Amino acid sequence: PRTAAVIPAAGRGVRLGPGAPKALRALSGTPMLIHAVRAMANSRAVSLVVVVAPRDGAVEVKNLLAEHALPERTDFLVVPGGESRQESVRLGLAALPADITAVLVHDAARPLVPVDTVDSVIEAVRDGAPAVVPALPLADTVKEVEPGEKGAPEPVVATPERARLRAVQTPQGFDRATLVRAHETIAASGEGATDCAGMVERLGVRVVVVPGHEEAFKVTRPLDLVLAEAVLARRRA
Ligand code: CTP
Ligand code: MG
Repeated sequence: PRTAAVIPAAGRGVRLGPGAPKALRALSGTPMLIHAVRAMANSRAVSLVVVVAPRDGAVEVKNLLAEHALPERTDFLVVPGGESRQESVRLGLAALPADITAVLVHDAARPLVPVDTVDSVIEAVRDGAPAVVPALPLADTVKEVEPGEKGAPEPVVATPERARLRAVQTPQGFDRATLVRAHETIAASGEGATDCAGMVERLGVRVVVVPGHEEAFKVTRPLDLVLAEAVLARRRA
């Protein structure tokens, strides 16, 4: 089986604050996207990485890939992204060559995922799971609320049993045909989903969880940059 990684990197990073698109911002001097590309290409099972670039950033991303040292056995493609993450993933899938049978989808915003986590997702797909997500137990208790007026106290509706909840990360791994079918079906129904696996679940296909890793956290807000640079400093020590 040939495995490709699609990296949606076309978001603006509104929650990180003003500046360049999130994936192009530096982490310890290297663009976040390059860290994420290396995290995928470092897996020997990944033969192709497709970067879904900010809409008018495809040339800049191609230049970045050429400037930074990356494994020579890996091929790279760059395509421009869309308005939503779902649309960006769809555009990345459309660029895959015919011989790719398994696909990872990995957020550029999770630049520090360890290669062992990537490999365990790929292994579960190769063992026959059509959809695999890495995930971790939650530290916080989670409440479901009835969202009300902004700023007003919100009534609690339910408290799901924490031990049964998992916080989902990427890379998420899929049998290619299953993921493509999910995108065709769900996009046609006009519905959104916050992750690819959620779309596959709606097809009625079984999704399984493998252990995630705390270093696979998503860089979303400014404090996450502090943590990411501390993790990199610890790795270099
Ligand atoms: N993404 C994308 N295309 C979009 C929106 C998001 O490829 N139209 C990607 C982001 O680049 C990121 C991943 O999806 O790698 C996860 O999204 P998120 O963390 O929400 O990033 P942003 O959308 O960039 O951040 P924000 O929501 O704060 O603007
Ligand atoms: Mg977003």
